[in-house]
Order: sequence, then C-alpha cells, then structure tokens
Amino acid sequence: ISALPVFSQEEVSKHRSLSDGVWVTYRGGVYDITEFVAMHPGGEKILLAAGGALEPFWALYAVHNQEHVLEILSEYKVGEL
Ligand code: HEM
Repeated sequence: ISALPVFSQEEVSKHRSLSDGVWVTYRGGVYDITEFVAMHPGGEKILLAAGGALEPFWALYAVHNQEHVLEILSEYKVGEL
C-alpha cells in the first residue's frame, strides 16, 4: 500500500471543469470526481464545489449526510490536502 500524494489547495483549484478535471476536497482528502459528475443525482449543482471544499455545500444539502454517499466519494480519492 503506497501513500497517496499530497496536493496544495492551489493545485486543487486548477481542476474546476470537465476538461481540466473536477477535483474537490473533503476532510483533508482530495477527490477527482470528473467521472462522477454525469452520475450525480443532484445534477450539475455538483460543479459549484469544483476546485474547492465540499463541506459548505454538504452542510446546505443534508442528503449527503449518509454512509452510502461517503462510500461513493471514497472511490474517487486521489490524494491528501
Ligand atoms: C443528491 C452525491 C456534491 C447537491 C446526491 C445523492 C448522492 C450525491 C449519492 C443522492 C443521495 C440520496 O438520495 O440518497 C454527491 C457527491 C458529491 C456531491 C459524491 C461530491 C463529490 C454535491 C454538491 C451539491 C449537491 C456540491 C450542491 C452544490 C445535491 C442535491 C441532491 C444531491 C441538491 C438531491 C437531488 C434530488 O434528490 O433531487 N448527491 N453529491 N451535491 N446532491 Fe450531491
């Protein structure tokens, strides 16, 4: 098991479109959710978080406060912040 790379917030913020990739952060983890965007039950709202933190959005949309949502997110982890 090798450690995942560490990314800066600046690097994460470069990934905010489908063409550049869509990255988000959550509790110190970095996630490349590009492939998930089209599958998101909440549609393109997910792009509001592109390049930044999920926490403020998930605080507003409590539907994400479920174990199965975190399981989906965990599949897309690419690094640590
Ligand atoms: C619903 C995942 C980011 C807005 C959902 C659901 C999942 C999901 C699995 C369905 C939950 C259920 O009904 O059991 C994710 C993941 C995200 C993400 C993995 C990030 C990687 C966001 C963001 C927003 C958002 C950033 C808003 C800015 C919504 C809304 C729904 C929803 C409004 C409800 C859709 C409906 O039932 O009509 N999301 N979400 N999501 N999400 Fe997200």
